[in-house]
Amino acid sequence: MGWSRKDLVAIRDLDAAEIVMILDTAASLQEIAGRDIKKVPALRGKTVVNLFYEASTRTRTSFEIAGKWLSADVVNFSAGGSSTAKGESFIDTARNIAAMSPDVVVVRHSSSGAAALLARTLDCAVVNAGDGAHEHPTQALLDLLTVRERKGHLDGLSVAIVGDVAHSRVARSNIHGMRKLGLSVTVAGPPTLIPPFVQELGVKVAYRLEDAIRDVDVIMMLRLQHERMTGGLIPSLREYSRTWGLTLDRLRAHARPDVLIMHPGPVNRGIELSPEVADGPYSVILDQVAKGVAVRMAVLYLLGGSKGGDQA
Ligand code: CP
Repeated sequence: MGWSRKDLVAIRDLDAAEIVMILDTAASLQEIAGRDIKKVPALRGKTVVNLFYEASTRTRTSFEIAGKWLSADVVNFSAGGSSTAKGESFIDTARNIAAMSPDVVVVRHSSSGAAALLARTLDCAVVNAGDGAHEHPTQALLDLLTVRERKGHLDGLSVAIVGDVAHSRVARSNIHGMRKLGLSVTVAGPPTLIPPFVQELGVKVAYRLEDAIRDVDVIMMLRLQHERMTGGLIPSLREYSRTWGLTLDRLRAHARPDVLIMHPGPVNRGIELSPEVADGPYSVILDQVAKGVAVRMAVLYLLGGSKGGDQA
């Protein structure tokens, strides 16, 4: 089976075989990171535009590195400093960028649906780098690759996703990806931060940290997404941290000794994770970041490598 989609908007759109194809492609490309000369000609002559309307450290940098390692020309657009400040709309900006004939546009935006809108509007490939609280597909893919390599497989593994699930595009993409690949998922957090529909996605819900993290293979901690909260959904940061923060004592008391601790970043140290856990032996957080380059190389390669793909 070959890759046939024009765009990558949501993990929800993919089937298990497509997810595994991206993971396998990323696994084969990641050795480039260890080379003296980190350059292969796969995307020579192709242009990738990173169109970022929200702040990013990991995603934007890794898309840029991924494109450059594949020999693409990479252009970074930030809304700040652009004609957005003069009132140009998102879609007008995107159409103007598209008029310059990029092969791939990578987009991050605060509005759910922004990536789908571009995918429908532009002829080039569009990759969602995070749209509102909807999806962040490449984050879920790098998370799956990290777990697969650390555990040697994904079959039958169990994962707890803990924290602000309601506002998390990372949680949504991971839930879809993990369920499609047969992992069991428990989400946990204060009731105000657990969306009411979440059980329809095939996950269990826990309302105590201790219950969520017992006997799971992976614990994925989430940041409180203050920028997407409209009201006081938690009593205070101190209260949240006391109830939902993962400390070394809690980890040792309730989790398995071979558990993996993941976090998409940025970490709020002392809130959802204590520094001892974030930097400790259970943590694979920086491994996730490294896998991000490999996954983004795979996605750019599969979507940007040829113009011949059918639109799925
Ligand atoms: N995980 C993630 O999306 O990080 P950035 O916001 O830094 O890109």
